Amino acid sequence: MCGIVGIISDETKTADIIDSLKKLEYRGYDSSGIAFVKDGRIEVYKSVGKIEALKNSIKNLLDEKVEVGIAHTRWATHGQPNDINAHPHTDCTGKIAIVHNGIIENFRELRGMLEALGHKFKSDTDTEVIAHLIEEEYSGDLFEAVMKAIRKLDGAYAIGVIHSDHPDMIVAARKGSPLVIGIGEDTTILASDVTPIIRYTKDVIFLEDGDVALLKKGKVEIYRSSGEKVERRVQHINWDESAAEKGGYDHFMIKEIMEEPMVISSAMTGRVRSGRVDIPEIKEIDFSKIRRINLVACGTSYHAALFFKYFVEFHTDLDVLVEVSSEFRYRKPHVDKDTLTIAISQSGETADTLESIRLAKRLGSRIIAITNVVGSTITRESDISIMMNSGPEIGVAATKTYVAQLTVLLLLGLQIIEQRGFWAGRHEKIFDTLLRLPEVFSSILDSSDRIREIAEDFKDYNHFMYIGRGYGYPTALEGALKLKEISYIHAEGYPAGELKHGPIALLDENFPVFAIAPQDSLYQKMKSNIMECRARNAKIIALTTSENRDILQVADIILEVPKVPEELYPLVMSPVIQLFAYHVAVLKRHDPDKPRNLAKSVTVE
Ligand code: AGP
Repeated sequence: MCGIVGIISDETKTADIIDSLKKLEYRGYDSSGIAFVKDGRIEVYKSVGKIEALKNSIKNLLDEKVEVGIAHTRWATHGQPNDINAHPHTDCTGKIAIVHNGIIENFRELRGMLEALGHKFKSDTDTEVIAHLIEEEYSGDLFEAVMKAIRKLDGAYAIGVIHSDHPDMIVAARKGSPLVIGIGEDTTILASDVTPIIRYTKDVIFLEDGDVALLKKGKVEIYRSSGEKVERRVQHINWDESAAEKGGYDHFMIKEIMEEPMVISSAMTGRVRSGRVDIPEIKEIDFSKIRRINLVACGTSYHAALFFKYFVEFHTDLDVLVEVSSEFRYRKPHVDKDTLTIAISQSGETADTLESIRLAKRLGSRIIAITNVVGSTITRESDISIMMNSGPEIGVAATKTYVAQLTVLLLLGLQIIEQRGFWAGRHEKIFDTLLRLPEVFSSILDSSDRIREIAEDFKDYNHFMYIGRGYGYPTALEGALKLKEISYIHAEGYPAGELKHGPIALLDENFPVFAIAPQDSLYQKMKSNIMECRARNAKIIALTTSENRDILQVADIILEVPKVPEELYPLVMSPVIQLFAYHVAVLKRHDPDKPRNLAKSVTVE
């Protein structure tokens, strides 16, 4: 996720701005840059790779005192990670510099309009349009120009803007992406989170969506984008730097689970237009001409792929093949030019998935990658990439990226359903509910404390059976994977109907069952399977739909999610299985962020 820093002070050196930027390194980035006003001019320096490379590129200027400066770590979304696309971006006059975190949905239209007015663009980014828009609106008042420019933006942004004629100010604005301001005695500092601010002050203001702030030395004024002045509470924080990186949480994993409402919004940003799904990256694909879809993925990404198979096969006439990449690459799969291959990988580097792409390509298949890392090897070897836009995931266990994968796959599925002529009222309902999911997620995440209490009661078991049917099956697999990989408890994920073909022999009072049992079309079948488990004295945790009293007949513990169309249960149930695994791991005193023997990117087979 991009990181922003901006500082106004009499005592700041460029080295201080770079050191502050370094505090945001943990967020992940592919390039960085800095802009400051010196001798009445804006100077900009950018570098792909580590911040250290940026620091080296300005080593003669590190002791230089600057009145105002902004800096940025970029996590690419539009355009490759390179020096030109790195922030800050400037306007045609070179007097305005801007850093941005977020995605501008209407940047193509704005860029066309600005180019028609004669503006010259240097980068492929969505951000650069903001610099030119501000230039277009500027007539001596930077604050006013930013106000007018942001009213033309659709999408999400947190921005910091400087102008060479106004070395005493930074103008900042936020909508959808976070921004925090710290006001120290001689220094006013702007940042994406509190980590760089702590060194200067522990009194901070968290901007709210729609706020525009005018930062000057030792003071800040905040307005709504409508122009009305507002007061925001100054909050005193007691976090040290390590707590600040984790947003005050104990671990990255829980912080990332709590980010899921935002992750769903980002995954949908720019992909919904005029009340329909419209994923710009795949506009040249005609899904009515495709004969079958082939998905390759590993681990959690494979579970997301399995969900997609169930979803698309149920709602269209398409065959959807799904296979773990490590098997696919060594088989003789029936894939050809009429088969579209979709590779799912949060890291974009998984060796087996990469080899599967190469095999599918050799067989004539077109490749779409769904990944979270721009410029990763998988994006380079695929024909088309759909980014998950979740921001970097630091916890090794995939949580928010799984949620992003499911969101992107639902959008993709809905677009396929429409293009193949199967769109009906049910899909309208799925689509409308999907748009509301960020709110629904927030309410589910509120149950974290209750899930911890349940985890406390179950943490000492050595085995767990996760079961589900239909859309609940991928969720059962993912629940078992999350638990085993971070708590080291043996957990199996099974289709509930398969239990009686062997695994039920394992069950007794020491082998609890986690049943994925929403009130969907297979609920009665699922209930019978739960009864079979209960008859073997297994304790039952049932994850079901709110107000399902019927489940009380068979379950010992009930966890609930709001009622949604059944195709969305894999998504809304994700935070519950993740939180359960997280709390069990922490209660057992394991570090959930760094599970033993595992790596975030598996680049070997
Ligand atoms: C899940 O928590 C694991 N991190 C793992 O199963 C992961 O999903 C798998 O290694 C695939 O990784 P990818 O999505 O980066 O390809």
